[in-house]
Amino acid sequence: MSSSYVLNFGAGPAKIPQPVLEKAQKEFLSVNGTGMSVMELSHRSKPFGAILEKTKKDLAQLMSIPQQDYSILFMQGGATTEFASVFYNLVAKKQLELKQAGKEGQEIVVDYLVTGAWSNKAAQEAERLIPTVVGNPVRVHRALDVKKLNSKYGAIPPQNEWNLTDPKTHNVAYVYYCDNETVHGVEFQFVPEIDSNVPLVTDVSSNFLSRPVDVSKFGIVYGGAQKNLGPAGVTIIVIRNDLLVDLNVGPIRPLMLDFKTAADNDSMYNTPPTFAIYMVGLTLEWLLEQGGLEAINEINNRKSHKLYAFIDASKLYKSPVEPHCRSHMNVVFRLTSEELEKEFLKGAEERNMHQLKGHRSVGGIRASIYNALPEKDVDTLIEYMQEFEKEHTK
Ligand SMILES: Cc1ncc(COP(=O)(O)O)c(C=O)c1O
Repeated sequence: MSSSYVLNFGAGPAKIPQPVLEKAQKEFLSVNGTGMSVMELSHRSKPFGAILEKTKKDLAQLMSIPQQDYSILFMQGGATTEFASVFYNLVAKKQLELKQAGKEGQEIVVDYLVTGAWSNKAAQEAERLIPTVVGNPVRVHRALDVKKLNSKYGAIPPQNEWNLTDPKTHNVAYVYYCDNETVHGVEFQFVPEIDSNVPLVTDVSSNFLSRPVDVSKFGIVYGGAQKNLGPAGVTIIVIRNDLLVDLNVGPIRPLMLDFKTAADNDSMYNTPPTFAIYMVGLTLEWLLEQGGLEAINEINNRKSHKLYAFIDASKLYKSPVEPHCRSHMNVVFRLTSEELEKEFLKGAEERNMHQLKGHRSVGGIRASIYNALPEKDVDTLIEYMQEFEKEHTK
């Protein structure tokens, strides 16, 4: 490896596995012997169709998706667009159920577990969209709002302290949470236990395919690609088929936010982001070569555990996140002053360690150590942290 090797700790768009970039480079001008770049192929062509099918097959294999019960969708507009899509589509499903049960006009509740910036944004988007729903009043209920409880994010109280809406007495359309809060470095280490009649929805944008997942527990698992799965531009939705509702049922919603339209057209109602899907496909192949989710999880655990262990043993660095919910993907930490943090970042850049700055809303340092980041890069970071601490705590 050359001396200009760069260690990329960016939170997203983030590091892509080197072999994936190399394969894409090799195939840049002619993919699969077509004589054309993947970017030049019609999305309805046979070669692109084969890429899409293989990508879905590999994702289903990696996540052990019960394929007869779930659909895999490739959508656009980033994970942020899904904040609205989830709301519209699942409120539509609940409206349909209420109509069929002769309960038209009753209140619909959507539950949110707010553990950081992204689940907060998702809840805010649902709140904003309430007035667009006709026929039923809708209420957004924050069954957990950690910032309200503790004045800051950094913990996930046990489930018996949450205030989930009772589906026996209310019409709960779904329960929503963000599995890994990228900004605050908070990650669920368990799947919330909820009533089996209520769809559970999770945003896995920043820990997608970083560990095994039991898809059967979820109504929807979704995430943007640009952290663990490839470049920005595509969002992957794994949705249980019974949640796909006809476009003419429920709230009027833009066609491009409708899950059933996407499913009925195999994610090709309009032109999908073909290059991004191709890159996701290559990343999935790489993940399979690594041994799948069990294997990558083991490496991810090793990487994050050694970094947290070092932070906990030091006097200079401090994790603001409680140990029970620390992210294995986004390790956030503080130094004893902002001046030192600036100096730390400067020294890191000089050593080719990039994109370590914490999110602008919280400051501090954030080392994103996604699947593609090799373990040796974490070791190098720890060596630098050690050296920096020695120099600054004499
Ligand atoms: C957990 C999580 N959810 C949602 C988003 C928003 O994604 P996008 O920028 O693709 O809309 C992000 C982006 O960083 C994220 O980390």
